[in-house]
Amino acid sequence: MSSVDLSVKLPNLTLKNPILLASGTVGYGQEIAEFTDLNKIGGVVTKSLSLKPRKGNAPQRIVETPTGMLNAIGLANVGVEEYLKSKVGFFKNYDTALICNVAASSPEEYLECVRLLDSEERIDGFEINVSCPNVKDGGLEFGNNPALVSKITNLTRGATSKFLAIKLSPNVARISEFARIAKEEGADAVSAINTLVGTAFDIYSRRPKIKNVTGGLSGPAIRPVALAKVLEIRKNADIPIIGIGGISVWQDVIEFMIAGASAVQLGTINFVNPGSAINFLDNLTEYCLTQKINSLSELTGSFTL
Ligand SMILES: Cc1cc2nc3c(=O)[nH]c(=O)nc-3n(C[C@H](O)[C@H](O)[C@H](O)COP(=O)(O)O)c2cc1C
Repeated sequence: MSSVDLSVKLPNLTLKNPILLASGTVGYGQEIAEFTDLNKIGGVVTKSLSLKPRKGNAPQRIVETPTGMLNAIGLANVGVEEYLKSKVGFFKNYDTALICNVAASSPEEYLECVRLLDSEERIDGFEINVSCPNVKDGGLEFGNNPALVSKITNLTRGATSKFLAIKLSPNVARISEFARIAKEEGADAVSAINTLVGTAFDIYSRRPKIKNVTGGLSGPAIRPVALAKVLEIRKNADIPIIGIGGISVWQDVIEFMIAGASAVQLGTINFVNPGSAINFLDNLTEYCLTQKINSLSELTGSFTL
């Protein structure tokens, strides 16, 4: 089984394999560690970190939908300072890439968060969340605004020489425009996609099922959309792509790579089966062997546009 090369080389970051665990679905990493072997996974992306701790939105914050879920957590997190003090240390015992996801209310706050986190050696890179649909300040407004995405990328690039990915919103007309901006301002990759804005109603109370009224749709329902966004970015922007959205079985990983993703992230599936990543890796190796593929990364963008 070990004769297949699963590694992925991205600018400023090499992963042992293309499977990362997505922001917001595995806490700070420790929360999932007892259910999976983190040493075997390509990397972990933390819950979005902000400069100050955030409580997030009031419940109800999560609702199941047909083949997916809506969430409006609202970026609840311990804040950068507490993260550095009490959370990052756990990773020093693990050999897996650690990517800190950062969310903020202003371009300057993004810069400050990355600057503070950059000094911690264990952190391998950053994913900048300009696309959270569930917060009143910032969130989608950033992800919808080319000038702000440009400024945030430029400032955060200036604050770190580590791996830097910009996490893009699918709730825009042309996602590839934002990918091009990220590339121009020096990002190493883009992550696509964050959740799609959605809602659901209780027919008896006639009220939204989510207190925030709308939430972010994730899970298998969004996979075809995410694949199309990955394809659009690949066609129009020359930047490595981390594919995210509804990955639920190992075959989905292959689909994202064929469409153009260099690596992928598993999100909602972690709530269904937190051991999925390991199971997928075994199947990916087996697939490569039977398809006579020496290096899994050969698949990236193998669909000819
Ligand atoms: C409960 C929940 C919390 C999330 N929190 C964050 C977050 O803090 N920051 C972020 O960038 N994305 C967050 N996301 C989005 C995921 O990282 C991912 O982009 C999205 O769920 C699509 O992937 P999936 O369909 O595999 O879940 C969250 C998703 C869920 C379901």
